[in-house]
Amino acid sequence: MGGILVIGSYNLDTVLRLERFPAPGETLTALGIAAFHGGKGSNQAVAAARARGRVALIATIGDDASGQAAHALWAAEGIDAQAVQTTQAPTGAATILLDAAGENQIIIIPGANAELAVPPGFTPPTDIAVALAQLETPQAATAALFRALPQSRRILNVAPAAPIMPELLAVTDMLVLNETEAAILAQREAEPAALALALAAETMREVIVTAGAAGAFWARPDGVVIDATPPRVVVADTTGAGDAFLGAFAAFSAEAYTPEKTLRLAVAAGALACTRHGAVPSLPYRAAILAPGGE
Ligand code: RIB
Repeated sequence: MGGILVIGSYNLDTVLRLERFPAPGETLTALGIAAFHGGKGSNQAVAAARARGRVALIATIGDDASGQAAHALWAAEGIDAQAVQTTQAPTGAATILLDAAGENQIIIIPGANAELAVPPGFTPPTDIAVALAQLETPQAATAALFRALPQSRRILNVAPAAPIMPELLAVTDMLVLNETEAAILAQREAEPAALALALAAETMREVIVTAGAAGAFWARPDGVVIDATPPRVVVADTTGAGDAFLGAFAAFSAEAYTPEKTLRLAVAAGALACTRHGAVPSLPYRAAILAPGGE
């Protein structure tokens, strides 16, 4: 089984639990506050490791308590963090507003994430089946790393939504994004399957659009679409659901599963992640993903 290389962010998440989101200019009282490990890159690395992938991470943190906590997390999760770099900037942070329906609004403060670069002396490993990145770290560094891994399946999670640099798209095999991000990228509203097909035709890449309880739609540039529906769950917090999907998708892609089954397992992982609060505490383990309803 090939390994998984995740290139991406670490954030310390501060979550404010609210009855509802504030209107512009309005002041609300929170129901509670909590801190969790977060950052799309680190979350996806943890999700892949919990699905029993062999995971290495390239990230950048600050020389501070959050950075030390991040290293402790990666060690506990069995993630190879040797290529993680430390800079003068503070470790990334995020403030997350969470409403009673489990929906969120996220503001990130990039800090050290904005300084992610190709690690000095980086030698591309030859046994990487999947390379996975997001848009919370500089696209130029991801492009350079993806370019060095032509034998891997290079997956770009287009989150947060932003235009993709041509040099990054040129070395990307697959795009994964949620329906909101897909509508931003496609510059129009449409059903998730239609957005996946349109983006696949436009970029000539495989595209997966995730759509919460409606599941996920995997389109190829030749017009073939496969889809998967998640098990029903009671939603506590959707934070990290996309990261659970990506991490599980990477881990099961690195094994000999069919595309249909890989997609089914990934949507199950995403659904399971909605049942608990916080990004990292909610990321499911392999056994839960493979359990009936998951598989
Ligand atoms: O995908 C969820 C993550 O987005 C949070 O953990 C937050 O840090 C932001 O990066």
